[in-house]
Amino acid sequence: MNLLITGGAGFIGSHVVRRFVTQYPNYNIVNLDNLTYAGNLENIKDIDQLPNYSFVKGDITDLDQMRSVINEKEIDGVIHLAAESHVDRSITDPLIFVRTNLIGTSNLLQACKEAWKDNWEGKLFYHVSTDEVYGSLELDHSMFTETTAYDPRSPYSASKAGSDHMVRAFYHTYHMPVVISNCSNNYGPNHFPEKLIPLFINNIINRKPLPVYGSGENVRDWLYVEDHARAIDVIFHKGSHGDTYNIGGHNEWSNIDLIKTLCRVMDEKLGRSNGESEQLITYVKDRAGHDMRYAIDASKLQNELGWTPSLQFEEGISKTIDWYLNNKEWLANVTDGSYQEYYKKQYQ
Ligand code: NAD
Ligand code: DAU
Repeated sequence: MNLLITGGAGFIGSHVVRRFVTQYPNYNIVNLDNLTYAGNLENIKDIDQLPNYSFVKGDITDLDQMRSVINEKEIDGVIHLAAESHVDRSITDPLIFVRTNLIGTSNLLQACKEAWKDNWEGKLFYHVSTDEVYGSLELDHSMFTETTAYDPRSPYSASKAGSDHMVRAFYHTYHMPVVISNCSNNYGPNHFPEKLIPLFINNIINRKPLPVYGSGENVRDWLYVEDHARAIDVIFHKGSHGDTYNIGGHNEWSNIDLIKTLCRVMDEKLGRSNGESEQLITYVKDRAGHDMRYAIDASKLQNELGWTPSLQFEEGISKTIDWYLNNKEWLANVTDGSYQEYYKKQYQ
């Protein structure tokens, strides 16, 4: 199997690449990433010398480049994670989300279709998507299932929804073997410190304000990133072609409760007095169009493929905080931009 993983220098992609490179030594893994601000090869430097791993600096918005890579590397399978992923950035610059998420995904589908010449034997296109395509839930007990109607509300989620539709269109029109998964909020090591958990860990370390959007009552369903990578592994190998699988942590937190927990655990770990970090909480203007609540019903994945989350949140958040406290250099490098030097040293 020659497997192309896109976005493997990013947060989730780096965990997926590590899992596949180490668990499947007989697969050749090609990590294709354009190394945007979110791509950091330091995330996978522990495995980048392994013989079944190679890296290509490539841009999914460049159709000819995708054609060349898929042909030259004789790619049989794709796990597609490359994306613009931050909702706040999509509010200030929606068009880059259309280019990367919608056009980039369409380019990859088209390049695979051409290379595979409609001979689908042994081929698979796995598209990694998000629960945000389903829209926003009320503060009740409802959950997103695989049949919940799409109702994306931010430029980010609309561009991801569009990419999901293109993947299904290639399945229905050309019979390309595809699978899609829609996952809830991830957390864990290598998470870029623009997203809630790593941003707040970094700000607590540096005693900077913790900007809570709106009332802080919005709810997210958090999953440890390695559990997501394991779910992708299970779905890639056992999922039914043409199907969608929801992935979630059964782990809902209001932002403000999560932030207070983060403050408490970090005060303990940093030897600060209880309540010190909570004083950094600062309520700020709400995110435009802020989705109120996400919650995933992952029972299809559990019942059909036997996947369940392995880590309790208390353990996962403690491991995550420890990782950031033990990797202050990583944090410093990504906040001052010097992490992008790693590529130049290794690959240019
Ligand atoms: P990320 O922003 O950390 O990483 C994205 C990666 O894609 C980066 O390495 C970046 O360099 C690369 N990339 C961006 N544009 C590219 C282009 N034009 N060509 C090639 N590479 C490009 O994102 P993430 O949080 O790891 O998310 C990965 C995927 O999982 C995304 O598709 C996202 O929608 C989805 N997802 C994320 C979450 C989450 O909580 N983070 C949850 C569910 C689904
Ligand atoms: O649900 C899956 C999605 O989760 C993924 O598809 C996205 O790629 C990922 O970024 C994430 O989206 P969110 O918008 O939920 O994540 P974010 O970390 O940006 O915000 C989480 C919550 O915290 C959200 O309600 C907004 C709030 N927030 C966020 C930031 C960055 C704040 O209150 N303050 C902040 O500074």
